[in-house]
Amino acid sequence: MAESVIQIRNLSKIYRDFWGRKKVRALNSLSLDVEKGEVFGLLGPNGSGKTTTLKLLLGLLFPTEGKITVLGKPASNVEKNERIGYLPEESYLYKFLNAEETLNFYGQLFKMSRVERKKRIDELIELVGIQHARKRQLKEYSKGMTRRIGLAQALINNPDLVMLDEPTSGLDPIGTREMKDLIIQLKEQGKTVVMCSHLLADVQDVCDRIAILYGGELKVMGEVDQLLTEQDETQLHTSRLSEAAISEIREVLARHNAELSGVEQPRANLEDLFLRTVHESKSRPGRRFTSDEAAQSSATTAVETKTDDKPSDDTPDDKNSPAS
Ligand SMILES: Nc1ncnc2c1ncn2[C@@H]1O[C@H](COP(=O)(O)OP(=O)(O)OP(=O)(O)O)[C@@H](O)[C@H]1O
Ligand SMILES: [Mg+2]
Repeated sequence: MAESVIQIRNLSKIYRDFWGRKKVRALNSLSLDVEKGEVFGLLGPNGSGKTTTLKLLLGLLFPTEGKITVLGKPASNVEKNERIGYLPEESYLYKFLNAEETLNFYGQLFKMSRVERKKRIDELIELVGIQHARKRQLKEYSKGMTRRIGLAQALINNPDLVMLDEPTSGLDPIGTREMKDLIIQLKEQGKTVVMCSHLLADVQDVCDRIAILYGGELKVMGEVDQLLTEQDETQLHTSRLSEAAISEIREVLARHNAELSGVEQPRANLEDLFLRTVHESKSRPGRRFTSDEAAQSSATTAVETKTDDKPSDDTPDDKNSPAS
């Protein structure tokens, strides 16, 4: 059985006003576990309780009801936070320090030696891609750069558990892709990641499991792959097909009690196109990318069928296919 890094049981949080009167029920009887080494996504619309959950896990807020265990300790035990990295929704970093000074300051808080700090600061500045701005005061940073230094700060103590509140907010598509790669890298190092987001494509790309909150209540939880698999459809990918071949396929499908629900040329997604364009522009400055080239995708045809038969086990895994 997998080891739980986070256990939440019947967690409720009611925010009260200055007079102690109930103001907002932000969480209602939430129970969930996060296992060691997984990337767990907390999703939900604005105000659904995602940030509240993270703050409760860190012990920054006290629950109204319920029990939370993080890394084997109660959430109220702040000692456990030494093994946690936290990227808050809003940056709380000192605006008048530069990137190196910021990381040095946090390294000192974690009682790292001078040599250790220097090594770690160089590593992190490179990891988050702000080498060119390492001596610039944070008040001059763009939103995306602020997000990057925030992540570097969250990782200074080489944490076992990383909590990221909207990690890709304010990042351009290249920064977003880098952040996603970084989250996958953290997972590969054996770390556990909990992230909140409403950018669903980002969550889909990196999370193993997700929970969807609405009005402070857990509505759906499970493995992303399982939740997103369309049980009643089968998708085939073939090389480009002629009209004749397609109509023959239609006949074959009819014999199997199935119908062809769509035939189309696969489309690359916008993120891939954007990254390809930037990459090409960097490697071949001065060259213009024509719309023909941009639209070019592999010469394959995606065939979607609806069937009454149960899909066979050898249905191709379409996760990395050009049409998905
Ligand atoms: N300090 C506070 N005092 C009173 N109410 C609060 C406080 N912080 C949050 N809330 C309320 O609790 C609810 C949940 O807020 P929370 O910040 O956890 O949502 P969220 O899911 O992170 O939203 P978003 O996607 O906008 O970041 C909201 O109704 C919010 O107004
Ligand atoms: Mg939030």
